[in-house]
Amino acid sequence: MEPTRQHYLMCRPTYFAVDYVINPWMDPSRPVDTDRAVRQWEQLRQAHLDLGHTVAEIAPVPGLPDMVFAANGGTVIDGKALGVQFRDPQRADEAPAYLSWFADAGLPTYEPKHVNEGEGDILLAGDLLLAGTGFRTSHAAHRQLQELFGYPVISLQLVDPRYYHLDTALTVLDERTVAYLPEAFSPGSQAVLRRLFPDAVLATAGDAEVFGLNAVSDGLHVVLPAGTPQLAGRLRERGYLPVEVDLSELRRAGGGPKCCTLRLRQGKGA
Ligand code: ARG
Repeated sequence: MEPTRQHYLMCRPTYFAVDYVINPWMDPSRPVDTDRAVRQWEQLRQAHLDLGHTVAEIAPVPGLPDMVFAANGGTVIDGKALGVQFRDPQRADEAPAYLSWFADAGLPTYEPKHVNEGEGDILLAGDLLLAGTGFRTSHAAHRQLQELFGYPVISLQLVDPRYYHLDTALTVLDERTVAYLPEAFSPGSQAVLRRLFPDAVLATAGDAEVFGLNAVSDGLHVVLPAGTPQLAGRLRERGYLPVEVDLSELRRAGGGPKCCTLRLRQGKGA
């Protein structure tokens, strides 16, 4: 298995906090340790750099505590940057900040027409664009994705509110393989996943609970949270190299390594 060099965008959690509730993991009555979140985030960034990837940074904005979750900032495929439209007003102001970053980076930008939370729900797997819906990204947004990027969109219905974004329930491991938690999907979507990915790595409920599926793969190394009961071992059996990071402080907002990492696919095939 060959790793590919990746370009990522991340946002330092300088203003990280949990002071509203938009997913079942968030509990504002338990204050977060922002310094600890920053240290954990720095370890994630370093893990990406140690694997030979590049990491660009967008400046965090005061008053936007969830901006650290860069995966929700857009979808960048073949050098085109599609902006996001958040479901919840608390995150709305992140959208223009990310869109201007893409424009400043010289990427052509496109406005979203419907609720669309970026790579949180939209994951390219080979030539298929896997798109989650049910909690955040709307089904209507999937049609815009297909028209803009020209990849067939596979709509997947999420059914468990704890796994409200596709990237909490499914990881793309390489062009042919994914790992996922079957019960996070509707029966029909489970059948679609079985048909498309008969060799998928299946995760357990315990793996998903520690955000094990919120992982970032370069085709060989899989950066994932430490402490998955089964997933890291199953990946190793299949020839992947798990790289474990502790993002427990960021998990208190309902996020993990993938949420903090937006893939920038700046050119064809990149
Ligand atoms: N608190 C954030 C929210 O609920 C967490 C986002 C996690 N991001 C992700 N890509 N799953 O929107």
